[in-house]
Amino acid sequence: MNDKRDILVTSALPYANGPIHIGHLVEYIQTDIWARFQKMRGHRCYYVCADDAHGTPIMLRARQEGITPEALIARIALEHQADFAAFRIGFDNYHSTHSPENHHCATLIYERNRDAGHIAKRTITQAYDPVEQMFLPDRFIKGECPKCGAADQYGDNCEACGASYSPAELKNPRSAVSGAVPEQRESDHYFFKLADFEDMLRAWTRGGALQKEIANKLDEWFEAGLQEWDISRDAPYFGFEIPDHPGKFFYVWLDAPIGYMASFKNLCDRTPGLDFDHFWRANSSAELYNFIGKDIIYFHALFWPAMLHGAGFRPPTAVLAHGFLTVDGQKMSKSRGTFIRARTYLDHLNPEYLRYYFAAKLGPTVEDIDLNLEDFTLRVNSDLVGKVVNIGSRCAGFITKRFAGRLADDLMDVALFEDFVAAGASIAEAYERREFSRATREIMALADRANQWIDERAPWVVAKDPAREAELQAICSQGLNLFRLLIGYLRPVLPGTAVGAEAFLRIPALTWADLERPLLGHVIGEFTPLMTRVDPKQIQAMLAASKEDLAARDVKKTKPHETRSEGHLVRDPIADPIEYADFAKVDLRVALIQAASPVEGSDKLIKLQLDLGGETRQVFAGIRTAYDPKDLEGRLTVMVANLAPRKMRFGVSEGMVLAAGPGGGDIFLLTPDSGAEPGMRVK
Ligand code: 2FM
Ligand code: ZN
Repeated sequence: MNDKRDILVTSALPYANGPIHIGHLVEYIQTDIWARFQKMRGHRCYYVCADDAHGTPIMLRARQEGITPEALIARIALEHQADFAAFRIGFDNYHSTHSPENHHCATLIYERNRDAGHIAKRTITQAYDPVEQMFLPDRFIKGECPKCGAADQYGDNCEACGASYSPAELKNPRSAVSGAVPEQRESDHYFFKLADFEDMLRAWTRGGALQKEIANKLDEWFEAGLQEWDISRDAPYFGFEIPDHPGKFFYVWLDAPIGYMASFKNLCDRTPGLDFDHFWRANSSAELYNFIGKDIIYFHALFWPAMLHGAGFRPPTAVLAHGFLTVDGQKMSKSRGTFIRARTYLDHLNPEYLRYYFAAKLGPTVEDIDLNLEDFTLRVNSDLVGKVVNIGSRCAGFITKRFAGRLADDLMDVALFEDFVAAGASIAEAYERREFSRATREIMALADRANQWIDERAPWVVAKDPAREAELQAICSQGLNLFRLLIGYLRPVLPGTAVGAEAFLRIPALTWADLERPLLGHVIGEFTPLMTRVDPKQIQAMLAASKEDLAARDVKKTKPHETRSEGHLVRDPIADPIEYADFAKVDLRVALIQAASPVEGSDKLIKLQLDLGGETRQVFAGIRTAYDPKDLEGRLTVMVANLAPRKMRFGVSEGMVLAAGPGGGDIFLLTPDSGAEPGMRVK
């Protein structure tokens, strides 16, 4: 094995305003497997993380709950850490960006960049809420889409037609915080001059710090030209005040990645011998890896290395991006119950299953991965329970009952054991390169060989012949040695199962180096079942609970006139009053969805064919993010039947169906009670 390496590993910091869900867990499980592998190899590896605690959504969420942001982030920090611990994410430290260490590091990095001339000041014009007396981020402005006229669209893009635009283009804009009409106001902002770092970033990119797809993306960004980055926000803002500019705060994305440093600093400050500077100084020989999702590459592959460099710190050795999670081939959806919170999963299923399933799917690229729930059940049951745990349970009983727990003094099949040891090199290489699906495949091929070897020697037959006692002990001891190797190889993926297996084998936590030597003449303990089979009913119960979770949370936390968006609450302003006569003009009808199909070129729209009791209408509905078209066919809903036809990019839309919710996976199509029939007037 090569010399000991010093490795610092991070996962992206979760926002402190919402729960951890299975989409987040792809990254934490991926990083944790990699960090555990490095530790098993004997390297000095530290895995740190923190809550991402600053920004407008967190400030407003706290306000909605009637508590301080500090109280909100303290509560969420506990919830996050409980979820991570249950999934056995083995952080060496979990901290917060709202911490003295982060204040120190963010200020230092800013000041060094400022003193080196990398910060510019400019006046910009921005939407301002005169009631709340605050500038509004794009996501907090709502209005009608300037392209298709759809109501209630966010300030940056339209969920109905997919158009992108600037908030100033929205028609009838309103603040999503107070409902007031936003004003345009000027304010001084501070900018990080990213273009100053183009040469450094090009060299860093070429030096192998990025996956190929990402390096190509960066080349496109270099070609387009590196823009200055607005790093300041005006009060009121929950964050750190910029030292020389009272009333101005660091934008949350400036101090978020610095949170990696701050969390490590907090660990160093209480760990004798752990030297912060050794890991962060320019030209450090230590390695730094930031695991992230592909949606936050711009921040991590441009701003982050640049601001570190500008402040005299080292850039990451590599920024490693993964893809998104889909469930049964589709975006996670609250209405389908596939937006599964970590806690809801834990209420129904063993975390080791998900760790294994993600490992079996994960590779080193940014490709999305799919959690197919049927495949999940089959794979866990056949690989983990059927192949791996089975070896232990088949062999252990005989050893404890017939040999007082004592393993034989010699291996029966040395060549087979050595083959298993030799296979470790390729498995280790797969882990190192984050080819976890290859690692699990190779381990399962070994498990098949072990089972076949045991089948051929049929210890249950040998056990019936008192003259073959020694042979029985030899077969089962060999079997348990192969089992021990499999558990060792799976240890980064299945730390809980490994701890259980180590307890029954009565051995200390396995390291990679331990695996070369067999366990002989050793007394083991009683075998306890390490894992049970997944029952499809547990999955159904989890999906049902995810739907209930959503309903319960929304009833509990959402006050009238509020909706949820990305985990934070925003008040949906009630529109100006209208006269009854105006309302009476709207002809609402029960409609039967006869056909529903995706719209090519739009990931937002579904084309619906609606039956109004004899008359058929074509309607384009912006509900694709929450619904699979085939689930809609045959369903009743409510539509505006007398809306003037609108020509859209994909065809003419002859009406509008009614749905509630802020968008994304949170769209809920209205359905009349049973008994309603197509064409009935809704009054
Ligand atoms: O996208 C997010 O969820 C951010 N909270 C990630 C921050 S990663 C790092 F920069 F802190
Ligand atoms: Zn639109």
